[in-house]
Amino acid sequence: MTISKAAAIGGGVIGAGWVARLLLNGIDVSIFDPDPEASRKVDEVMKGARRAYRRMLPDGLPKQGRLTFAKTIAEAVADADFIQESVPERLDLKHKVLAEIDTHAPANAIVGSSTSGIKPSDMQVAMKKHPERLVVGHPFNPVYLLPLVEVVGGAQTFPEAIEVAREIYASIGMKPVVIRKEIEAFVGDRLLEAAWRESLWLIKDGICTVEELDDIMRYGFGLRWAQMGMFQVYRVAGGEAGMRHFMAQFGPCLKWPWTKLMDVPEFNDELVELIAGQSDEQSGQWSIRELEKIRDDNLVAIMEALSKQNKGKGWGAGALHKDYVKRLGKLAAKPAVSKAAAKAKANKPKKAAAKKK
Ligand SMILES: NC(=O)c1ccc[n+]([C@@H]2O[C@H](COP(=O)([O-])OP(=O)(O)OC[C@H]3O[C@@H](n4cnc5c(N)ncnc54)[C@H](O)[C@@H]3O)[C@@H](O)[C@H]2O)c1
Repeated sequence: MTISKAAAIGGGVIGAGWVARLLLNGIDVSIFDPDPEASRKVDEVMKGARRAYRRMLPDGLPKQGRLTFAKTIAEAVADADFIQESVPERLDLKHKVLAEIDTHAPANAIVGSSTSGIKPSDMQVAMKKHPERLVVGHPFNPVYLLPLVEVVGGAQTFPEAIEVAREIYASIGMKPVVIRKEIEAFVGDRLLEAAWRESLWLIKDGICTVEELDDIMRYGFGLRWAQMGMFQVYRVAGGEAGMRHFMAQFGPCLKWPWTKLMDVPEFNDELVELIAGQSDEQSGQWSIRELEKIRDDNLVAIMEALSKQNKGKGWGAGALHKDYVKRLGKLAAKPAVSKAAAKAKANKPKKAAAKKK
């Protein structure tokens, strides 16, 4: 299924990222966000997204969809066939907003929630009319560039809704991965939470600084993760005997004191100051907007490089990137005027040239 009109509820970091991806795919979007600054913030994100897409498509972008700011949720979702909710991560607010979306949206519209970790079953209880059309569509920042979206259904979600949501996300160049069982934080944020928790311990205990930790990731295993993930990398690390040897060699380490695992460092002002202070030292010379540009350029470069691998077929996110860029290129080449008008336009200069003779 493709989208004819989308609605975005919430236009912060993630909502604006969805708006950018949708508009750059030529889809009209209606947005509701009560923040008086929302329009300026969405505009900033759009600027960054257009800049990144111009790098991907130097010959021109598809005709952009139309963005309208609605005064209410009801106005935003009217006539929408796809609605993505991206309001702050509070269950009471998700309930209020989803109930309102459900009341006013067309009955067959799919509703996706960007939540980072709330189970869809816990959210859809607030939807009295059509809870069966709610899915979690958990994206990663920046939504307009990173293709992954985790799709999770709740107890009341119809399997057909998951299938339609999968098609919708794929139609805007994403890689939907349907999560088989509903758990808090799904898969991506479960992994990130473990790494984040361990990172906080390492800084708090003075083992390394935030910069050293980032270097350890980006000069080392981060490069491997971006193209092979966890298990394919470890299969190769097992040598010729592959995964079985890898597990035999490193399996017992799981019992060694290599990790703090479930212990959580006390979250207090001291920890915030320590981390934020070191982060200022590491990156204070760049504004957030400058860092976003650096991040976006690097992401496009990585995906482009991966798109040339595997005998030109592309590898991992690069294979999808190759298809996406091709599809957007075709969309951009589509004539914006009717065939008859295009023909008339094409004939004009010939006539003028004939007169001159
Ligand atoms: N930031 C991330 O990296 C990230 C990644 C994936 C998912 N998420 C999830 O996306 C959602 C949004 O997070 P964010 O980082 O964009 O937050 P954010 O604070 O940047 O944006 C939230 C936006 O929602 C708006 N809002 C508040 N109440 C509203 C209402 N009643 N109706 C409509 N809009 C309302 C706010 O004005 C704000 O612009 C959360 O559920 C979060 O867990 C965040």
